[in-house]
Amino acid sequence: MATRKLLLLPGDGIGPEAMAEVEKLVAVMNDVTGSGFVTETALVGGAAYDAEGAPVSDATMDLALAADAVLFGAVGGPKWDGVAYEKRPEAGLLRLRKDMQLFANLRPAICYPALADASSLKREIIEGLDLLIVRELTGGVYFGEPKEIIDLGNGQKRAIDTQVYDTYEIERIARAAFELARTRRGKVTSMEKRNVMKSGLYWNEVVTRIHRDEYADLTLEHMLADSGGMQLVRAPKQFDVIVTDNLFGDMLSDIAAMLTGSLGMLPSASLGAADEVTGRRKALYEPVHGSAPDIAGKGIANPLAMIASFAMALRYSFAMIAEADALDASIAEVLESGGRTADIMAEGCRRIGTSEMGDAVAERFRARFSS
Ligand code: IPM
Ligand code: MG
Repeated sequence: MATRKLLLLPGDGIGPEAMAEVEKLVAVMNDVTGSGFVTETALVGGAAYDAEGAPVSDATMDLALAADAVLFGAVGGPKWDGVAYEKRPEAGLLRLRKDMQLFANLRPAICYPALADASSLKREIIEGLDLLIVRELTGGVYFGEPKEIIDLGNGQKRAIDTQVYDTYEIERIARAAFELARTRRGKVTSMEKRNVMKSGLYWNEVVTRIHRDEYADLTLEHMLADSGGMQLVRAPKQFDVIVTDNLFGDMLSDIAAMLTGSLGMLPSASLGAADEVTGRRKALYEPVHGSAPDIAGKGIANPLAMIASFAMALRYSFAMIAEADALDASIAEVLESGGRTADIMAEGCRRIGTSEMGDAVAERFRARFSS
């Protein structure tokens, strides 16, 4: 039996509660499909800072680099507000992304029919929504140097972040977006700010060239990122794949999340380049929601984004497409049946907690493989 190595990094806040539900599913999956998942768990974020003095230790980085896939919960919280910038919980996540070279962040926003009324937008705007944000994840202003606050010596300081993109970084994220569009509805919308940023101008130029030379059979359109944000809430169903840089992708994906009803619903996959010999990609899967410290430990968090992130791992790291489809369908069924965590609660539905939600999905999943 094949062994599939998963590294679990639950992190802070609601991360551990959500991850516990994925562990249930891993056990059920091994049981009913013989998938042979082996898990190892390590600390990340504030929890790692407290216990190991760094938001991700070198030992944990080694485990992450050796795993077939990393499942990541969430990091951060007010407890670590005073921690040095280099050691803040978020730095652990950023190191994982950078050192594993996870340049392509896939954030699908799908509106489950049962949740169309949980969104703050009208049902007709979001019903049937299925878009994919492809966010560049290892470049741009997140990592550009210089990044510092300097003393100008005249009572003034200067804060600097650097937005920087090299040709190869834009080329590879553009190709990733076009390849994904090919498996979907064949349309890519590229978002940048070419009207004020050189990096936006160049981003636009490179994406246009890659389209013309390699993907001319697909549709490419360009939008300024501010206008793109507006279009996302005005008429989100016009989009198929959106490709954008690290910072715009961060913001636009939070907007897209809310289209689906709750930030608690949005999974993500962060992928590296395919290894030339094995074809294997380094990969990390995480819910888009953060650590939500205000509700942590209460057993009320929505674990569906974490569970759907595991479904993405099945799809993108293990090519277990039938299992991934079954897991996604199990989530939809539980929502249809009226089971709701607090964040997606609606009239006439049944309010359930984190672990009940996980149990319900696991039960449906088991039923699909036993019938
Ligand atoms: C995200 C988060 C992270 C980011 C934070 C936690 C560093 O907001 O994954 O969207 O800004 O990328
Ligand atoms: Mg974010």
